[in-house]
Amino acid sequence: MKYLQAKTALITGAQKGIGYAIAEKLASLGADIFLTDINPEGIKKAAETLSAKYQVKAEGFAHDVSKELDCENAVSSAVQIFGKIDILVNNAGITRDNLVLRMKEKDFDDVIAVNLKGPFFMSKSAFKHMSRQRSGRIVNISSVVGQCGQAGQANYSSSKAGLIGLTKSLAREFSKRNVNVNAVAPGFIETDMTAALEEKTRQAIISQIPLERLGKPEDVANAVAFLCSEESSYITGQIIAVNGGIYI
Ligand SMILES: NC(=O)c1ccc[n+]([C@@H]2O[C@H](COP(=O)([O-])OP(=O)(O)OC[C@H]3O[C@@H](n4cnc5c(N)ncnc54)[C@H](O)[C@@H]3O)[C@@H](O)[C@H]2O)c1
Repeated sequence: MKYLQAKTALITGAQKGIGYAIAEKLASLGADIFLTDINPEGIKKAAETLSAKYQVKAEGFAHDVSKELDCENAVSSAVQIFGKIDILVNNAGITRDNLVLRMKEKDFDDVIAVNLKGPFFMSKSAFKHMSRQRSGRIVNISSVVGQCGQAGQANYSSSKAGLIGLTKSLAREFSKRNVNVNAVAPGFIETDMTAALEEKTRQAIISQIPLERLGKPEDVANAVAFLCSEESSYITGQIIAVNGGIYI
């Protein structure tokens, strides 16, 4: 059933990987999609492909989520084009891995700017509209390493742990206006981000996953779709783990 028909969703970092899978899932459920990414060509192409495949309205918008004005522009363009914004998925994220002693301040700052400040700017802008509508859903894409830490990812795991704190605070603040805010915390998912892993590391990770495989972008997209549905209307401030059991 196309239970997101007549809904509009803004998804950041949507030209590939998990963001694209989320965009595809929400479009398949009937939502009009406003896709953003720092890659202008990639995001236009993603919007064209999904609009043709699912017969929904789709727009591709290039911006940098670490810049507040860029985020305000993305949200106001979405509202201008689609008339409203029902769903915001804060998916854009980067890694700059290194051991702490070798990690530069810039590597720490850049990751926090995209992965944590980005969702703050986007949620703040979107809430102005959702608040007037007195309804909305915000889903943040955190990570298992924000829950359990990871050597070599002090910057990234801090940003994703911070995103969990942001999710819970926004859930408390926005609930008065019927805006639910939740997070999905994926484990290790097959995307370009994990394609960079050496085969030995990949096998070592799989050996620790009870379900004995990496996740697929669609596994994350399914959880996001649930958090955007009517069935999840009494869920807010929660972190849904999609991790094959690697962290229980
Ligand atoms: N792949 C995994 O195993 C995994 C696990 C847990 C969480 N996550 C999270 O899921 C999300 C998506 O990850 P992915 O694996 O699909 O990554 P990816 O690198 O394949 O895609 C990330 C997208 O974000 C875009 N982006 C990067 N910086 C941006 C910026 N400043 N402004 C706007 N867009 C920007 C990129 O261009 C890209 O299209 C990220 O937040 C990531 O941290 C991924």
